[in-house]
Amino acid sequence: MQDVVDQFSKRAETYSTSAHWISDSTLIQAHLDVCERVPPGNVLELCCGTGMVGRNFRAAGWSVIGVDLTRDMAVEANRYFPCIRSSADNLPFLEQAFDIIVLRQAYFLLVDGQRVLSEARRVLKDDGVFVLSQTVPYSSDDAAWLEKIHRTKQAQLKHFYTENDLTAELNQAGFEIAGVRRLSVRENITRWMEAAPELSEAKRAEVCGLVADAPEPYRSIHQVEVRSGEIFENWSWVVFSARKRQ
Ligand SMILES: C[S@@+](CC[C@H](N)C(=O)[O-])C[C@H]1O[C@@H](n2cnc3c(N)ncnc32)[C@H](O)[C@@H]1O
Repeated sequence: MQDVVDQFSKRAETYSTSAHWISDSTLIQAHLDVCERVPPGNVLELCCGTGMVGRNFRAAGWSVIGVDLTRDMAVEANRYFPCIRSSADNLPFLEQAFDIIVLRQAYFLLVDGQRVLSEARRVLKDDGVFVLSQTVPYSSDDAAWLEKIHRTKQAQLKHFYTENDLTAELNQAGFEIAGVRRLSVRENITRWMEAAPELSEAKRAEVCGLVADAPEPYRSIHQVEVRSGEIFENWSWVVFSARKRQ
């Protein structure tokens, strides 16, 4: 886990503006919408980073607590709601403490995803909602090239998941899928790499090249475009809502 802490300690200051998806209002709203719940109630944001999703649950009237492994990320989230520095695989909460648990864009970093899901299941109320979201390939046609890009950018990536893989992970952990939202968020890859101080200049150039010079059908699927020297592409997102299988 130290590799993850090292990476996000370097990124904490610039994290919130380092990619479009982090603050994309449509993507964040999808996390609230899939819950089909209204406040009041308790929300836990796992691996909350700077708390971008939790902030929006709080603004909607929920009582929010965050957990993140990286101290500097937790400190930032703590400006918006209470955040504990802890690993998500050993949660310092009682059974059935939360109405909603959210985990966005961190599952691929977890050493033992099943253990985190088991902890989420333990602290979620029996009628609670678990929201899991992540970037995934659009299909098997772009999966291999996307995995290459992700592994080049993120040496800390523990496993590359497709939507089907995530469905299987949730099922294995005793959740049943209640809803799925799929959406695309357009990213500026040039700016994403400019905001990646944890990477060497050569590595940043390599990631830019993998997107700018991506082969077909990746180019068409992701709508890769180079405009005024900047590289753009779409990322596919899946947002699951899941219930505890009783
Ligand atoms: C890509 S960021 C996503 C942050 C936030 N969920 C968001 O959507 O903006 C991944 C975060 O997961 C945290 N993380 C990784 N492994 C963790 C673990 N085992 N327990 C708690 N947090 C973890 C990292 O410290 C980092 O802040």
